[in-house]
Amino acid sequence: MSSLESPSSAEARLHREIERRRTFAIISHPDAGKTTLTEKLLLFGGAIQLAGQVRARGENRRTRSDWMKIERDRGISVVTSVMTFEYGGNVFNLLDTPGHEDFSEDTYRTLTAVDSAIMVIDAAKGIEDRTRKLFEVCRMRDIPIVTFVNKLDREARDPFETLDEIEKTLALDTAPITWPVGSGKDFIGTYDLKRRQTRLMNEKGDDHRDEIGDDKLDALLEQRYLTELREGIDLAAEGTNPFDLQSFREGHLTPVFWGSALRNFGIKDILDGLAAYAPPPRDQAASTRVVKAEEPKMSAFVFKIQANMDPNHRDRIAFVRLCSGKLNRGMKVKHVRTQKTIGLTAPQFFFAQERQIADEAWAGDVVGIPNHGTLRIGDTLTEGENLAFVGVPSFAPEILRRVRLEDAMKAKKLKQALQELAEEGVVQVFRPIDGSPALVGFVGALQLDVLQGRLDQEYGLEVGFEVSQYNMARWLDGERQDVIDFQNGNRSAMAEDVDGDPVLLATSGYAFNYIKEKWPKIRFTDVKETQ
Ligand code: G4P
Repeated sequence: MSSLESPSSAEARLHREIERRRTFAIISHPDAGKTTLTEKLLLFGGAIQLAGQVRARGENRRTRSDWMKIERDRGISVVTSVMTFEYGGNVFNLLDTPGHEDFSEDTYRTLTAVDSAIMVIDAAKGIEDRTRKLFEVCRMRDIPIVTFVNKLDREARDPFETLDEIEKTLALDTAPITWPVGSGKDFIGTYDLKRRQTRLMNEKGDDHRDEIGDDKLDALLEQRYLTELREGIDLAAEGTNPFDLQSFREGHLTPVFWGSALRNFGIKDILDGLAAYAPPPRDQAASTRVVKAEEPKMSAFVFKIQANMDPNHRDRIAFVRLCSGKLNRGMKVKHVRTQKTIGLTAPQFFFAQERQIADEAWAGDVVGIPNHGTLRIGDTLTEGENLAFVGVPSFAPEILRRVRLEDAMKAKKLKQALQELAEEGVVQVFRPIDGSPALVGFVGALQLDVLQGRLDQEYGLEVGFEVSQYNMARWLDGERQDVIDFQNGNRSAMAEDVDGDPVLLATSGYAFNYIKEKWPKIRFTDVKETQ
């Protein structure tokens, strides 16, 4: 707020800014077209001038940062980041998620920071495995989903079949907003079911789309011997669900759009759909109460830490999602976990090709805060209130290993490196309370490569991994005294995670079940959420 701004006009501005924000992610199975769609969304949002730059940017970044050689070698994207752009009066914050399943923990955390998601489906393949899994995460968090059926310029399934599959496999109602007229070489364009106009596909894509009414469409179909497509359109216009905003916002119904990201077709529909239907920043649950986006005081939580965004500056960026109010550059905030005050001297916005100092940001926005390890995943920042946002998850590792250090003299350095990388969410570290060497835990196998690469590149530590006798880890919950009794009774199998929370290590599912039966008062969990 500038000093000249009256409280009521500041309030009105806060309301305006929050209402126009749309913070979202794209969920899909690899290859469905997420990268292409991202690129085209940014193109229409004016964030990039030429398509091809998202990929190019990725490559630049990869060549600049050695440890990412791993992802280059494997042809996958490890990095999660955020891209902000404006379109039609709205501010869009697109949170990118890694494509590979081994980094799903990152993806799940990112989904805690969005208000809606676009589900991209390949028109020929329908709902695939990973889409279904990510959809389930969105459902757990009541995140409304907008569907984009992509690749209509190729042979596609019958559109009714696709809708049917969404309804049956995801138990999600569908309401097509547009309808494809043909597919593959017969893809003519999309029919706007409400306005009863057809947008014609041409080489120039969305930017120059012509619209025709029903008479002209009939003539065109006749000319191309495609009159049966008309039946499908009429059936869709009469027989599909109407769009219902409340049902969508509650996560029961998805509006469906069709197009071809590659051919620039249908992108504007999606952006207009997000602007019209997707919710502005949502209320966010915290330990003591629910925080509303329009509260004037700023509050935020960290959902992602990323090191080496720019190796020249060896920095560590905490990505925070603003939950309420307004952030001003230079403001002092309370870091609730440590109760210390932090000055936000250089918060940053991210665009497709650059980052920029954020002088002000609003609820719904995501800003990067450079720091040297103060901020951890799940941390809350407020203007003084002691509250902690809940729900940023950590998952029990699928893989547990001991780190073998080539040079035993560097044990202290390894300990520090593991602590830092654990705080960043790259690895989980479990320190047995009997003092035996720490175990490292991973959700996906590729994370081992990332850890090995980063220990080598950034800390000069050559390590290998050894199989441990343990292959399960579970967090504990229960009455305080019960937990203490349990820890005392199982000392040799107890460890602490990076936050000092107790963790049970088990050698097998069989051994774990035995312990579970013996200690019925203890709840064992495979997901830990910040609380
Ligand atoms: P992802 O991020 O979901 O993994 O998918 P990505 O966008 O990388 O797209 C996967 C492949 O599908 C790419 O082809 C891309 O060009 C293609 N594709 C995306 N959208 C469309 C579309 O609307 N129509 C058609 N016909 N193809 C589409 P590729 O050959 O694997 O990669 P590239 O050589 O084109 O980069």
